[in-house]
Amino acid sequence: MTRPDFDEIIDRVGTNCSKWDDMETQYGVSARNGLAMWVADMDFRPPAAVQRAVDAIAAHGVFGYPGANWPYLAAIQWWMQQRHDWQIQTDWILTCAGLVNGVAMALDAYTQPGDGVIVMSPVYHAFARTIRASGRDLRELPLANDDGNYRMDWTGWEAMLTGTERLLILCSPHNPGGRVWTATELREVADFCIRHDLILVSDDIHCDLVLPGHKHLMIAKTCPDITNRLITLTAATKTFNIAGAHIGNAIIADDDLRARFKGALMARGISPGLFGIDMVTAAYSPEGAAWVDALVDYLDENRRLFDQGIKAIPGLRSMPLQATYLSWVDFSGTGMTPDEFTARVEQGARIAANHGATFGSGGDSFLRFNLATPRARVIDAVDRLQKAFADLQ
Ligand SMILES: Cc1ncc(COP(=O)(O)O)c(C=O)c1O
Repeated sequence: MTRPDFDEIIDRVGTNCSKWDDMETQYGVSARNGLAMWVADMDFRPPAAVQRAVDAIAAHGVFGYPGANWPYLAAIQWWMQQRHDWQIQTDWILTCAGLVNGVAMALDAYTQPGDGVIVMSPVYHAFARTIRASGRDLRELPLANDDGNYRMDWTGWEAMLTGTERLLILCSPHNPGGRVWTATELREVADFCIRHDLILVSDDIHCDLVLPGHKHLMIAKTCPDITNRLITLTAATKTFNIAGAHIGNAIIADDDLRARFKGALMARGISPGLFGIDMVTAAYSPEGAAWVDALVDYLDENRRLFDQGIKAIPGLRSMPLQATYLSWVDFSGTGMTPDEFTARVEQGARIAANHGATFGSGGDSFLRFNLATPRARVIDAVDRLQKAFADLQ
């Protein structure tokens, strides 16, 4: 594999790209002189194998219904074994239209309107949106912030339950805190679900984007005793920057749980598109694996530079990332209100970053910065932020 050039600046403006084309309407930051550091996709091309797969379909020129997808299923099985030491059977895999859809299907399959659905907040905002939109009752269990690191707060959480909770969504690794949960923490999650008879949906979309020195654990493997209540959601889209393919998987070993999820997919008429299947099949390959290894090293250096730059601004603090390319920066040390520090970032630094409050309770004093962009932009972002907060130096 020729080494991917993550330094190449690729102009995405005008390509129906949410991150760059919607930033002005969302944040008032123009793509002409601003930096898009919000939506969680990357400003990089995927591995060449993915491009070849798309080219082959495009060159053939007939775009009918996709059929037998065994190479796709075999590629997922291979990836889970190679990268996560997790043996799955191909018939455990159900394909959905991305993982927000996967969460929605799980809510449909295992809960009723009015049931309590638990998330550990702050957390990826679409969980709350989907829970609320489907008429389920959002229950936020606040993560404890221990000197700048998130920790599950079991003692506090037990007291918050009302008995109407049916399902818990775990974000593993955690977005936006960048935590890779340990075997002990996963065991505690499993025990909590057993104690309160909860279905567990583990969203592992960031499982391949784990930074050097850390290891993602599949809860299915760490806690095999919860197979009868576990749905694992995985996708190649985040790993390989092919989110536009809108494809993901629910991996469910338990026959009854799988039948119910399949029923939800059928009831909503959901089946995958032609391009996504071949893109994922191409990505989950030795070539894709080498590309991810190079990517993770590149992201780690972006993280190091960004953290170093943030540390130099009094009052700002980024959570130490163990996984993901999403830096969660706490501005509470500046003493400013969210409106004040956000205005400096958007109008002063001209950076579009996700507002912490959208991730739920506990997020107000944060902004989330996407570092999956050429290094020159990360350096530029640090420079802009240091200037926007120069009076604090
Ligand atoms: C934890 C988590 N789940 C799901 C998604 C989105 O998944 P999809 O694009 O497959 O709907 C994201 C995107 O950032 C995410 O962070």
